[in-house]
Amino acid sequence: MNIIIINGPNLNLLGNRENDIYGNQTFTGFFENLQKRFPHVTLSEFQSNIEGELIDKIQEVGFSYDGIILNAAAYTHTSVGIADAVRAVSTPVVEVHISNTFSREEFRHKSFIAPHAKGIIVGFGLQSYELALQSFL
Ligand code: DQA
Repeated sequence: MNIIIINGPNLNLLGNRENDIYGNQTFTGFFENLQKRFPHVTLSEFQSNIEGELIDKIQEVGFSYDGIILNAAAYTHTSVGIADAVRAVSTPVVEVHISNTFSREEFRHKSFIAPHAKGIIVGFGLQSYELALQSFL
């Protein structure tokens, strides 16, 4: 099984960013542990702060991989381009968020991606990624 985690802007700062909201763990540390715990899954990850690079990656993997776990971060709430890419590909996409976006500012309640996602997992910290992974297995 080929599954990719695609992370959007500022998620490279996890562990050093608003720790009260996003926790203390780096994504690299979390990801290495996840790979060890799911050795039978070919798990990869990609992060970019650039909207077009996220779209390129979704297009690149979106007709051959078995699943995309997508945290588009702030672009979730603004990007028609990423939403259209999710809509265009055949690989199912699970949208995830670390924080509970619905308990935060109003502008975070809107997701352009959610209507085109297979499902959404919101608010379980980094465990949101693991729950999304399990949904594909
Ligand atoms: C986030 C929530 C977004 O609103 C925010 O812009 C992020 C992270 C989350 O995982 O909780 O950067 O996607």
